[in-house]
Amino acid sequence: MTRPKTMISRRTFTTLLAAGLPSIAYVPHSSLAQQALLDKPIPSTGEQLPVVGLGSWITFNVGRDQQGIENCTEVIRAFFAAGGRLIDSSPMYGSSQATIGYALEALGRPDTIFATDKVWTNGKARGRDQIKDNLSLWGLPQFSLLQVHNLRDWQNQLSTLLEMKQSNQLKYVGITTSHQRRHGDVETIMKSQPIDFVQLTYNAGQRAAESRLLPLAHERGIAVILNRPFGGGRLIRMAKRNPFPDWARAEGLQGWPDFLLKSVVSHPAVTCAIPATSRADHVHENMLACRGELPSARLRQRMLRHIEAL
Ligand SMILES: NC(=O)c1ccc[n+]([C@@H]2O[C@H](COP(=O)([O-])OP(=O)(O)OC[C@H]3O[C@@H](n4cnc5c(N)ncnc54)[C@H](OP(=O)(O)O)[C@@H]3O)[C@@H](O)[C@H]2O)c1
Repeated sequence: MTRPKTMISRRTFTTLLAAGLPSIAYVPHSSLAQQALLDKPIPSTGEQLPVVGLGSWITFNVGRDQQGIENCTEVIRAFFAAGGRLIDSSPMYGSSQATIGYALEALGRPDTIFATDKVWTNGKARGRDQIKDNLSLWGLPQFSLLQVHNLRDWQNQLSTLLEMKQSNQLKYVGITTSHQRRHGDVETIMKSQPIDFVQLTYNAGQRAAESRLLPLAHERGIAVILNRPFGGGRLIRMAKRNPFPDWARAEGLQGWPDFLLKSVVSHPAVTCAIPATSRADHVHENMLACRGELPSARLRQRMLRHIEAL
């Protein structure tokens, strides 16, 4: 994991606080921007990914509303400007793929993108056709990662994705779920199939993946993407109604989005989280979790307990 280069050490920070300099409790954003991005390796290759990506369900499904499309373009512009790379979508997300395609074109096709999409249909032939459509909507020759969405027809679709990887048409293969009732099936696939990624729900309010799936991913060297890191918005809205704790500020955390995201991306098995947003200012807040330090195991437990008690 990349260590921040211009970070004030926690000891210096504590010493300064003790010396009566509470005004440094927030590291100025300009210096945050100069810090190295927090990233983690994809276990199967060692390629580094920033710990925060960008989701697209609902938020980018704006149909043909040009104002909505331009707004999403600004969200994606802010994401790349903050060092973001992984954008996640699916043929299940209405017009989101087309919105992303428009934004990528408008932004000059940033080559740092880690394009992540899904296959969500039945039958091999339909799966292959859908992947072609997905590429055309994004305006890309290839995806970095394709995932079987919600395990739909996973035997057929996974075999196609593994064939594509074998023939260098795809770098990484994965599966997704956001339903706890599918964790048994996810576990079976993680144990039996050569997947690079698993995408699942894990946040301070939904911690079921902690017991089996996260340890299994760690053990088998499978990268983990966290969907619904804000519980679909409920968790972040609830947290923002509460005062931000002084102890969290003293630990260098930069507000609730930073707090919630770091409370989960700091889990050793987790590679990144993919919050979705329709607002560029929220992208700035969320990308703060790519700066500073990741909490220790002890601090992470304190953060999770704090959210549970809210
Ligand atoms: N099975 C699957 O494969 C699966 C299932 C579910 C989700 N996913 C993926 O995971 C992504 C994330 O999940 P999600 O979209 O369900 O939920 P989420 O990221 O947990 O929450 C999104 C909500 O959080 C709000 N939000 C984001 N940043 C905020 C901030 N800084 N302050 C206040 N509110 C903020 C957004 O509202 P604003 O627009 O106002 O910011 C939006 O309503 C999806 O978009 C999708 O790409 C995959």
